[in-house]
Amino acid sequence: MIRSIASLFFYARFLRSFSTLGYRRAATEWEDLTPDFSGQTWLVTGATGGIGRHTALTANQHGARVIALGRNPDALAKLKEAAEYPRRLLPVNVDLSSILAIVELPNERAIKSKPIDILVNNVGVLLNQHELTDEGLERSFATNILGPFVLTETLQSEQRFADQALVINVSSGGMYGSPLVTEAMNCTDARRFDGMAAYARHKRAMVALTRWWNSRWQGAPAVQVMHPGWVDTAGVQTSLPWFQRTLKPWLRDAEQGADTIFWLADQRPPPPDEGGIWLDRELQPEHEFSFTRRSEIGPDQLVDYLQACAQEALAS
Ligand SMILES: NC(=O)c1ccc[n+]([C@@H]2O[C@H](COP(=O)([O-])OP(=O)(O)OC[C@H]3O[C@@H](n4cnc5c(N)ncnc54)[C@H](OP(=O)(O)O)[C@@H]3O)[C@@H](O)[C@H]2O)c1
Repeated sequence: MIRSIASLFFYARFLRSFSTLGYRRAATEWEDLTPDFSGQTWLVTGATGGIGRHTALTANQHGARVIALGRNPDALAKLKEAAEYPRRLLPVNVDLSSILAIVELPNERAIKSKPIDILVNNVGVLLNQHELTDEGLERSFATNILGPFVLTETLQSEQRFADQALVINVSSGGMYGSPLVTEAMNCTDARRFDGMAAYARHKRAMVALTRWWNSRWQGAPAVQVMHPGWVDTAGVQTSLPWFQRTLKPWLRDAEQGADTIFWLADQRPPPPDEGGIWLDRELQPEHEFSFTRRSEIGPDQLVDYLQACAQEALAS
């Protein structure tokens, strides 16, 4: 009961900004984007559906060579068919919850052949059922935060980023509901699993990780974190059916959700020293509620934890 009231409060608090109303209101102030991504290589994770699919197709339309990562071969083939320039749309079939598969990605021909200009860490899932991967990780933890961490670190350590490269992390407004914690982030006990709470923790961690990478890498590559607002995608239909049905008229489409990705890639604002998360081309605060500021760990402990989880997964 308390949980339902808290959820209602949370959704009511953000209805105006995260829904299509927020997008439309913000967009009245914008100039049209006319991006030219010619000559760039983009790597988009979770590119077979929703926001990732729209991102892959639009980047391709605006001139980019796009490496599209997904785990469904039919959906990858359809994505290539749908591309305006299919020769510049390179599908790679990979399960992004497998840490071993991720560390092997730099050996893929499409990834090896040219440096990456834009990495969009888009893949993300909110699971209602508890599942473990073959490496013993809770699947949403592996997909939402450990996988993007390992992918980005691996590309950086293997020097696969171009000069002036940009990493765009796709987080979620759901992170406003969690402080930075490692506890229960990788919940391997099915009885204690709470998919929504786990998702919020992963997305909070992504914001913390963005700042940590920027302080270490100093712009090479630059790292930004954004969230798309509430978007009507297959992922939302599956994980939050009641939310999708109730708010359908106010949900964004994938174009609206992905807009800030293209704005960041085109306009290249410097990553903010003070942190924050981009929504509708504007920097928003990292915290909306005081309880999420009270964190017992900092980004260094988060990174130590993720490194230990990755090593364990690879040793399994
Ligand atoms: N939609 C929203 O309202 C919303 C709000 C806030 C944040 N976000 C974030 O935005 C991002 C995209 O969300 P979305 O709504 O577009 O999601 P979506 O509709 O579920 O699409 C996600 C895509 O990722 C793929 N994928 C999932 N797990 C994978 C794995 N292990 N390996 C490879 N591919 C995998 C899915 O492929 P399959 O079909 O094979 O599963 C699908 O193509 C996520 O990070 C999400 O957390 C979304």
